Amino acid sequence: MCGIFAVVNDNSDNAAQTVLKGLKKLEYRGYDSWGIAVKPADKPALQVDKHIGKIGDANTDLPKGKIAIGHTRWATHGGVTDQNAHPHLDCNGRIAVIHNGIVENYRDLKDKLMKKGHRFSSQTDTETVAHLIENKKNSLKEAVFSTFNELTGSNAIGVLDYQSETVIAARNGSPLVVGFDKKNSQYFLGSDVPAFLKYTNRVYFLKDGEGVTISKAGVNLYDLYSGKRKEFTPQVLNWKLEDAEKSGYPHFLLKEIHEQKNTISGTASLNLNELKQVADLIRKKYKVVLTGCGTASYCALAGKYYLSNVGVESQTYPANEIMPFVRFIDKKTLFIAVSQSGETADTLIAVKAAKTRGAKTVALVNARGSTLERLTDIVLPVGAGPEIAVVSTKAFTAQLATLYLLSKALQGKISQAKQKLRKLQGEIKKLFTPIAIKHLIAIAKSLLDEEHIYLIGKHSNYPASLEFALKIKETSYLHAEPFAAGELKHGVITLIQKDTPCFILASNDESKEEVLSSASQLKARGGRIIGIAPFEAEEFDEVIKTPDLGDLTIFPNIIVGQLLGYYLGIGRGADPDKPRNLAKSVTVK
Ligand code: M6R
Repeated sequence: MCGIFAVVNDNSDNAAQTVLKGLKKLEYRGYDSWGIAVKPADKPALQVDKHIGKIGDANTDLPKGKIAIGHTRWATHGGVTDQNAHPHLDCNGRIAVIHNGIVENYRDLKDKLMKKGHRFSSQTDTETVAHLIENKKNSLKEAVFSTFNELTGSNAIGVLDYQSETVIAARNGSPLVVGFDKKNSQYFLGSDVPAFLKYTNRVYFLKDGEGVTISKAGVNLYDLYSGKRKEFTPQVLNWKLEDAEKSGYPHFLLKEIHEQKNTISGTASLNLNELKQVADLIRKKYKVVLTGCGTASYCALAGKYYLSNVGVESQTYPANEIMPFVRFIDKKTLFIAVSQSGETADTLIAVKAAKTRGAKTVALVNARGSTLERLTDIVLPVGAGPEIAVVSTKAFTAQLATLYLLSKALQGKISQAKQKLRKLQGEIKKLFTPIAIKHLIAIAKSLLDEEHIYLIGKHSNYPASLEFALKIKETSYLHAEPFAAGELKHGVITLIQKDTPCFILASNDESKEEVLSSASQLKARGGRIIGIAPFEAEEFDEVIKTPDLGDLTIFPNIIVGQLLGYYLGIGRGADPDKPRNLAKSVTVK
């Protein structure tokens, strides 16, 4: 939610252009507006350029300079206007502030500042930060840190001071990472690594309660509360530049869907010790609770079926609905949080609540250096690589594969599971052949003018249908409603009329006959029945055949949903990488 980016000692002497390019890589974090502030080489004052809308193909004619900060916004406080776009300046235009998070106590702070005569030009909580810093008499670093300590909520800020040509940043609950291009003595600050991966993969992820000063002389790290300097060692990530580029694909979403041809089996060789450790805790009768939001919560639900298959009872809750049940969490609970970003506010709140109840916590996370990673006792990084498209795809399947491996680790069958995942990897390639894609596109075309589509699934195909439907909704804005097959006759069937599109997700398993019976109930009401299954059936008017992979069939069934969503989105004129109103990581409650 919101992307922060800054460059210090820009080698091209055109820091505003460098920031513009970096922000384009962070656009997935918010695309209501964008803005850049630069300290021009030949002028004493900061120059700012701010616009509403996506940064996409935008240009800026800001002057040259060696230091600049920028921001791409997902609006929370204040509408989508040029004035509310970041950076925000103090009354004198001496400092510029970019911010990711919500300053929960901003009203109070703003009232006090206005009484002191500060003039506000936006409705944002962020502008309060600029005026608060201005209001302090101490050194700029101390002013920024003490201001930051006054803010409540989860926040990360970056501040550009034109006098000292320094960027000062602080973090509490929202991500910040520093990039070190030592060779060229240029430094970067970002909400995420792809913003500067083109220049360096040497990074330091700030922890909560840490602040940095970045100037051409280098980077210093501080404890925000004591103000004391801290030692730190940057790490070198094994991410490649291609991970942050579209590499010939028209959209990141399509690239990431295709990457699943490799990422799923890649996951299978990770975390083997950690999986054994988690399995041991379950064997020691820890009660398993799984949580996450959106796609991650569907992954958690699918994991519940895998665990049940091996005789382990578990509970799942969307992280945003867990609070009434937190009192049932105790020291004998194994609390597994699923998250692509590791920064989702609701998920972090749930984990913190579980920790206060004494639970053992586990993170299934894709992005590295996240808050979730630091909060939890055991971390299972799923290794799908940077996921740039707002719609989650490859992280989901990598997380699901990890939960599958966990279930098999409980049976001592991890090697067989790895083999099955490798087979899956080979089989899903069939979904991407030109013939298969042509068929999918034809079905997508036939659905372009629909208003509603319905989906049913049973057992593990039930969470699969939830995820399939979310992909359609996010990418094409078509109303896609999923149901447990057995729920149809309890009310939902009223919605079915002649030619209503109904997707039936199925596997060749014990639920097959029942789901087909539900399909025939839909057919009897005139529904257009499209099977997503590894078999043909007379109940289906059409079928998208998926490989028969036993308990792993839900993987290809879901990938069909990802692809269909993508092509539907293209056909309906949506931007598959940046669905309206969404942001990649939802760092606010
Ligand atoms: O980063 P997380 O996995 O914690 O994000 C959770 C959800 O916000 C995320 O899955 C969301 O539902 C995506 N838009 C799904 O495509």
